[in-house]
Amino acid sequence: MDVDLLLTEIGQLVPVALSPAPGKPHRGPLRELPAIEDAALAIQGERIALLGPRAEVQAAVRAREVLSARGKLVLPGFVDPHTHLPWVGSREDEFEERLGGATYAQIAQRGGGIRATTRRVRGASLDEMCAAARPRLRRMLEHGTTTAEAKSGYGLDGEVERRQLHAIARLSREQPIELLATNMAAHEVPDEWREDRAGWVRKLCDEVLPALRPLAEFADVFCEAHVFGVEETRRILGRARELGYGLKLHADELNDTGGAGLAAELGAVSADHLACTGPDGIAALARSETVAVLLPGTSFYLGKAKHAPARAMLEAGVAVALATDLNPGSCLTESMPMILTLACLQLKMTPAEAIVAGTLNAACAVGRGHDRGSLEPGKLADLVVWDAPSWRYLPTHFGVSLVETVIKRGRVAFSRGGAA
Ligand code: NIG
Ligand code: FE
Repeated sequence: MDVDLLLTEIGQLVPVALSPAPGKPHRGPLRELPAIEDAALAIQGERIALLGPRAEVQAAVRAREVLSARGKLVLPGFVDPHTHLPWVGSREDEFEERLGGATYAQIAQRGGGIRATTRRVRGASLDEMCAAARPRLRRMLEHGTTTAEAKSGYGLDGEVERRQLHAIARLSREQPIELLATNMAAHEVPDEWREDRAGWVRKLCDEVLPALRPLAEFADVFCEAHVFGVEETRRILGRARELGYGLKLHADELNDTGGAGLAAELGAVSADHLACTGPDGIAALARSETVAVLLPGTSFYLGKAKHAPARAMLEAGVAVALATDLNPGSCLTESMPMILTLACLQLKMTPAEAIVAGTLNAACAVGRGHDRGSLEPGKLADLVVWDAPSWRYLPTHFGVSLVETVIKRGRVAFSRGGAA
């Protein structure tokens, strides 16, 4: 077989191709990951042609180009299924306020938080939004992310939300990480609608969601005691579903408001955060196709004692994914490897569960389990060479990037110490 690229001398290749049904997430506790030692992987165009023991793959293909992994670890590229990428400005003042004892909700109620970033984003042009997001995307790539979800939600106004979604589309075209857009106009109640919440919900349903449908695959709502209640959320997401959006939900982050159950009931693609989800919410998620996207970076960054009940979810058979939640207020990191370390240390996930949660299950959380998230013939050649001796080692080494090379859709997109 003729192929474009042969990645060979792979010390350990971890395909993460665990799910019995193609495109479906893995469910349940996991301690081991199938791995191939001394492996090779052949790429034709944007897709994986063949992978397996080095001798077998080398005997089966004739490659136009050969790249050595120099005995290192190869995993699927990370999918980061929850980011708030297109913002401008920064909120270091709030970091210190929180160190002084203020809570995230208190800062939001005094007009800080999301609404503080909204005031900055409303004054930014499309070019300024893109310029602010580019270094973040570069850092994501340097930490092994090859696909990411990106939310609007700092415009809180039809036209500024539209600009944010245009920024996401432009950024997705111009650099290697593919971005999947979410309309999160229901991120907050903007300053000018504080006295008329019902009016803002009506405007979202009647104008903002319909007008922006062509620009976003998903719609998301911040369902929380100080933001949108369960009934408001049901109304907004019900309308989004009628319009053909895939549904996402910021659920049970600070309180158990029943958000997880609502996500399951509405057939959401994912329910995210879930730090405070109780047994009913866990049972509802386990019975559903909704992927639980856990964000341990956020509970860490907000100094919360309570972390998502990942073990109970895994035991119950919930499909668990991990994401950064990259945003200027509640979790400022681009690093999926850091999130994996936090998932192990704070959510008590095993390294095997964390890796699956950042790859295959994360792909399912953005409706892409069929074409990425694992290394299988026919899937996209999105993969990362890590300077690590084994998959078990990966979450043990934190705060730095061990990425050597990133291949996105069959092409070298980043290479440490070399231009890509
Ligand atoms: O997912 N929870 C709501 N939204 C973000 C925070 C956004 C912000 O504070 O700017 C989150 O944590
Ligand atoms: Fe978020």
